[in-house]
Amino acid sequence: MSKPDLAAQAARRRTFAIISHPDAGKTTLTEHLLLASGAIRQAGAVRARGENRRTRSDWMKIERERGISVSASVMTFERDEVVFNLLDTPGHEDFSEDTYRTLTAADAAVMVLDAAKGIEPQTLKLFEVCRLRDIPILTFINKMDREAQDPMSLLDEIAAKLALDPAPLFWPADSGVRFRGMLDLRGDRFLGYEKDRDQEHPGPCPLAAATNLAPDERAMLVETADLVREGYPSFDLKAFREGHMTPVYFGSALRHFGVEQLLDGLADLAPSPRATRAEVAGQPGEMQPGDRQVSGFVFKIQANMDPNHRDRVAMLRLCSGEFKRGMKLKVQGTGKQLTVSAPVMFMASDRELAEEAYAGDVIGVPNHGVLRVGDSLSETGQVRFAGLPDFAPEILRRVRVKDPLKAKHLKKALESLAEEGVTQLFRPEIGADFIVGAVGQLQFEVMADRLANEFGLEVIFENSPFSEARWITGPQAEIDAFANINKTAMARDIDGLMVFLAKSAWDVNYAAEKRPELTFSRTKERA
Ligand code: G4P
Repeated sequence: MSKPDLAAQAARRRTFAIISHPDAGKTTLTEHLLLASGAIRQAGAVRARGENRRTRSDWMKIERERGISVSASVMTFERDEVVFNLLDTPGHEDFSEDTYRTLTAADAAVMVLDAAKGIEPQTLKLFEVCRLRDIPILTFINKMDREAQDPMSLLDEIAAKLALDPAPLFWPADSGVRFRGMLDLRGDRFLGYEKDRDQEHPGPCPLAAATNLAPDERAMLVETADLVREGYPSFDLKAFREGHMTPVYFGSALRHFGVEQLLDGLADLAPSPRATRAEVAGQPGEMQPGDRQVSGFVFKIQANMDPNHRDRVAMLRLCSGEFKRGMKLKVQGTGKQLTVSAPVMFMASDRELAEEAYAGDVIGVPNHGVLRVGDSLSETGQVRFAGLPDFAPEILRRVRVKDPLKAKHLKKALESLAEEGVTQLFRPEIGADFIVGAVGQLQFEVMADRLANEFGLEVIFENSPFSEARWITGPQAEIDAFANINKTAMARDIDGLMVFLAKSAWDVNYAAEKRPELTFSRTKERA
């Protein structure tokens, strides 16, 4: 395939994730985006698919018992020649680490807000990750069919809490039982909302011709729209792409209202895959979507999608080239070669074999523990992408195996789970303990479950004396000097990097003040 064709393939791709607080409507919106693209015919399919998956994968008992979705997946669908890759992120906050990593593979995000609640804690947390990478964000204010907050105060909240300029593209005519639809602010087309129609609402028509607006409602809408046009910035593609501005959409995912407009927005405004920073053959550079060489990075390992096969599927985000099934790819650093003979593409309907894929696409690469989160794959094995973060764990526990004869197995098992990114593993410099770290409590439960089922190890988590972990960087002599006087608080992570385990945040601040030449980081970019 020639270079221009490769670039054209990448140009028609939109790889995005949805960020939201639980219950804001992410699942419902996902489903209705799939409906709008024709990938599914009936609402309920996503959930049904989830149920089905749950009944199939019994290691995820926790997932089933708690009714939450733990494993992120990818859904690919197409509309009008545009290929959408929707990266599904787990909604439960304990799994935010997974979510963070998934966001590194997205080129844009849709932020879903519940119109009655505005910005909630989890929205804020996820937004901050998007901000770290300047990911452009489209905002969808959902549940307009219910009593909503004043839309202007919602926009002001976006501006104040996120320091993001909201540019409304539509304006709603009231909400709840009085919700009538919305005006396209870029013209005077009105989209009517019919509360008794589940999915088919009248198409856009000139405002003057809108039948479901009473004269006073229309006058009010015209007046408010004038105020809004004056009071808020108009949409600027550059500012949006740089992560400073968000186009704002309104709707009701449940009633399939405003969803088509959001999908249009993703197609028209969201960026296609861009160049990705990388070290190429040891030199700083980047991989362009149109580059011939196939390259990509693993942002997630999904384990046990099929419990009968104990499989590990590495989610590979492609950054360049044309991937073909059966291709050989090399892992940067180890030089290990992999023949990708059974890659998986996640079409909305079901898993399908990927014959070919381009920059922006995500393919699942089944493997038996060869691939790790953060690995870079390419044809030469000489491309290294950086930037996949590890976050300082918020909970640290000492882990012991009940049967002391199995202590050796424990090490292997913990390393394997840490490589997958399930939990983090710290090996104190003194003593034989293992300290595991997680962002949320649920990660420990998943870990215990998997240690029991996959490795036959019954483990006990005990309180550890530490509450904070920080990666230390700086001049080696300084690190050594610091490590020398804090021996009992030093540990190594899975990559052998030096970590300071502190009893409190105060200790971390104290150390940082005393040692200005050292950096105590909350995040580590995976090599
Ligand atoms: P999440 O993935 O973000 O956690 O949210 P989800 O889509 O599961 O939606 C959470 C609840 O909000 C669901 O109700 C869902 O039906 C409802 N919902 C989503 N979008 C809209 C909307 O636009 N309007 C209204 N009125 N409700 C909406 P539930 O009762 O918790 O679940 P269910 O019994 O309906 O499945």
